[in-house]
Amino acid sequence: MSKYRENKRKPQREGKKVTVGKTGDVPAGRGATVKLKDGTEIALFNVGGKFHAIENFCPHKGYPLADSRLYGGIVECDLHGWRFDVASGECFTKKDCSLESYEVVIEDDWIKILV
Ligand code: FES
Repeated sequence: MSKYRENKRKPQREGKKVTVGKTGDVPAGRGATVKLKDGTEIALFNVGGKFHAIENFCPHKGYPLADSRLYGGIVECDLHGWRFDVASGECFTKKDCSLESYEVVIEDDWIKILV
């Protein structure tokens, strides 16, 4: 068993497009927590006007990455500094700890995430 945490709030892949808000709701350089109806969560980030979505979960100790700081396209976990690519979910700190990423589409200023 992995010594790292399992994300119990990871959305199941259902092939659905979920509308989560307007582009103006998340300022550039910031993250936001998206809570889905079934209680699962996604971290949404605005990197210079381009939106990205990954699991809202740091596999080290489970901290929500949407609350952590962005450095360009990289989010650094506020607790102990693990770093992730917000576009791909790749973890730069530990191998095999990469996160799921979700496609984001913008339609008429609405942010939609494919889960
Ligand atoms: S919880 Fe430790 S680095 Fe994220």
